[in-house]
Amino acid sequence: MICLGRRQGSRNEEKTRVGRRFGILAALLMLILMGCAGTGGRFEPSAELRGLQAVRCDYPAARFAVFSDPHVYARTLGTSGTAFQDYLNKDRKLLVESETLLDAAVDAIGALDVDFVLVCGDLTKDGERVAHQLAAEKLQRLADDGKPVFVIPGNHDIANAEALRYEGDRSLPVPTVSAAEFAEIYAPFGYAAALERDPDSLSYLAEPVPGLWLLALDSCCWREQGERGDPITDGKIYPPTREWMQNVLIRAKREGKAVIVAMHHGVVEHYPHNERFYGQYLVDDFAYLGDLLSAHGVQMVFTGHFHAQDVTARTFENPRRTLYDIETGSLVTAPCPYRVVTIGADQRASVQSRFISAIQGHEKDFRVFATDYVYRGTIRLADDALAKYKVSPADWPQLSPQIARAYVTHLAGDEIRPPAVLQAADVGWWTRVVMWFQKDLIEGWYTDLSPVDNDLVIDLSR
Ligand SMILES: [Fe+2]
Ligand SMILES: [Fe+2]
Repeated sequence: MICLGRRQGSRNEEKTRVGRRFGILAALLMLILMGCAGTGGRFEPSAELRGLQAVRCDYPAARFAVFSDPHVYARTLGTSGTAFQDYLNKDRKLLVESETLLDAAVDAIGALDVDFVLVCGDLTKDGERVAHQLAAEKLQRLADDGKPVFVIPGNHDIANAEALRYEGDRSLPVPTVSAAEFAEIYAPFGYAAALERDPDSLSYLAEPVPGLWLLALDSCCWREQGERGDPITDGKIYPPTREWMQNVLIRAKREGKAVIVAMHHGVVEHYPHNERFYGQYLVDDFAYLGDLLSAHGVQMVFTGHFHAQDVTARTFENPRRTLYDIETGSLVTAPCPYRVVTIGADQRASVQSRFISAIQGHEKDFRVFATDYVYRGTIRLADDALAKYKVSPADWPQLSPQIARAYVTHLAGDEIRPPAVLQAADVGWWTRVVMWFQKDLIEGWYTDLSPVDNDLVIDLSR
């Protein structure tokens, strides 16, 4: 009877069904097309660039240190009370230890024989002026020691409404900085001695070692936040900056300078489906931009933002060339890394990773503490996400630790994929649906895209 009832009036239902399916297909097609449009397609070199592409600009011998995302939080802004604790519970950065961690990195790098130091953005927790001043004071120790420092802004650093101090159960606004103030505070760290500054952003060009140019790109969206707005995680290179940058790269070719790039956002995907899951950690039009940089002879881009130790490469054709995105993890997130890059006259770059393994108060167990801190923080965030997806709280203890393990594994780099990435027994059907949709992300975090992440040699002669 039921079947018969369904068949009666089936023509209209069939039409509606077909219509709905067509709608879904059209929406999927639109999403696919939008996805393609988002990557921006291929960069077309101008005749001028084509004429210069065969010019080889050899790298001079150079040695430099890189760290990223120190997220300095001034302890004077409050480290107790329920408001601060609530903030920490929604976060997973070692904010209380951030000042000490930056000191430790400055001490460690200060003891190295390096020509200069790169900092790939997110200098502060949330753009607090006092935190910027504190970060600048600490970086000055390196500069005073003859190791020039070059910074770029991260998405947290400018015009940020989250610049707050904490007092008991209250969080209160404190001054943040404008783009102009950022350049003023960090004048000794790139802006004052820049060979060129982009008038439309905080991008600049420097020559830290004769023959080696550093193109420091501001990929942040602070201008869309107004004087004090919600920080925009996404990144983009606005058209005037893109034009400025291309002129700089053409000039580099003409003057025989090798170029390295530093920017906060990624330019090559760091795990399969990176654009689909957390695409805001890649610069908009990343494929186009990567092609553009690579077509101008750039081979290494130093990035941060996702807080992971991860190096990926993308090969472009006509002519064939490879671009490396060398992402350095955050100082306030396990494994609290920094990198040392040595470019030899043989045109090989050795990239080595080091880690802050002890700080005051945690002399013996800091790496264990830091890893456990981010693991537990990720379990809390995974629980929140599962709650939003309406997954039964009874199933959270099975899923969240697995999600946290995958994330922590990705942060450390050189991931080894376990036999099963996301497993759960006796969970509800809805939990299984959610798992199915998230499976690609967890698999992605466990997938180490080539090359290796922590210690590697890049052949720049190709
Ligand atoms: Fe960031
Ligand atoms: Fe960050």
